[in-house]
Amino acid sequence: MLKARIAVLVSGGGTNLQAILDAQNSGVIKSGEVVLVISNHADAYALTRAKNAGVEGIYISKKELKTQEAFENAIIAALEEREIDLIVLAGFMSILSERFTARYDHRIINIHPSLIPSFCGQGFYGLKVHEAALAKGVKVTGATVHFVNEIPDGGEIIAQKAVEVQDGDTPEILQKRVMEQAEWIIFPQAVERIAYEISNSN
Ligand code: GRF
Repeated sequence: MLKARIAVLVSGGGTNLQAILDAQNSGVIKSGEVVLVISNHADAYALTRAKNAGVEGIYISKKELKTQEAFENAIIAALEEREIDLIVLAGFMSILSERFTARYDHRIINIHPSLIPSFCGQGFYGLKVHEAALAKGVKVTGATVHFVNEIPDGGEIIAQKAVEVQDGDTPEILQKRVMEQAEWIIFPQAVERIAYEISNSN
């Protein structure tokens, strides 16, 4: 059985990328292998994490390429060249067009730091998600792994995990708890599950 070839798209710190790389080392992920990391920010620490793990990392600049179409074409070319089977969005802060998502139907997954359908969609990213959860006063939040389609955070749900909100939480504290107790656990597990399905259908 051939391992699914995985590309991880990032923009920032890359703690979820790290969780995936660690899961590969510990054997949680065994049906796939991260062979490429693409960042749309040149200075993303995620690129350093890729380098440290011996994984190829590349920077694709939307600014230089100017249009969304040219940006996505450059990503597609990089993915095709390396025969990527599964695209993992791990803190990738750029919304992909329908042309892109339709091309990779059920081959793109994303992690979102809330229990979808709460606090998701356009404008809900980063700390804003946790600010909104605290403003609403929810007692439980969490994280969701889902397939990516043309609707932001609208694709089929793959996995969810709940996390308690505690008195005195700030958006930063809540963000950290959601990462530690949910994101870094369910994302690698979901990557394995989808990679397993892909590698068995190849
Ligand atoms: C995470 O909170 C993730 O849920 C969201 O973006 C953040 C990325 O963090 N999609 P990191 O770069 O993985 O540390």
